Amino acid sequence: MKLIIINGPNLNLLGKREPEVYGSKTFEDYFDEIQNRFDSLQIDYFQSNIEGELIDKIQQVGFDYDGIILNAAAYTHTSVGIGDAIKAITTPVIEVHISNTFSREEFRHQSYISPVAKGVILGFGLQSYDLAIQSFL
Ligand code: DQA
Repeated sequence: MKLIIINGPNLNLLGKREPEVYGSKTFEDYFDEIQNRFDSLQIDYFQSNIEGELIDKIQQVGFDYDGIILNAAAYTHTSVGIGDAIKAITTPVIEVHISNTFSREEFRHQSYISPVAKGVILGFGLQSYDLAIQSFL
């Protein structure tokens, strides 16, 4: 089983970015933990702050991997391009968010990912990623 976690803009700052919303753990530390927890799986990780790089990565892995766990961060709410990329590929995508976007500002209620995702998991902190991985088992 080959999965990839793709994180969008500003998620490289997890740990120091708005810790009251996103927690105080870095993604690198969390990623080490999940690799230990799911040690029978290949789980890759990619992060970019650049929309086109996220689209390139989705295209690159999207016909070969068993699953993509995507937190497109702010691009969730704006990116027709990422939505179209997900439509174009065959690998299923689970949309993930750390925070409950529906309990936050109105502009976070819109998602270009949800209509083309296999499923959506949000609001469980970093555990949202664990739950997304489990959905592939
Ligand atoms: C986020 C929610 C988005 O609205 C926000 O822009 C992010 C992170 C989350 O994981 O809760 O950067 O995707």
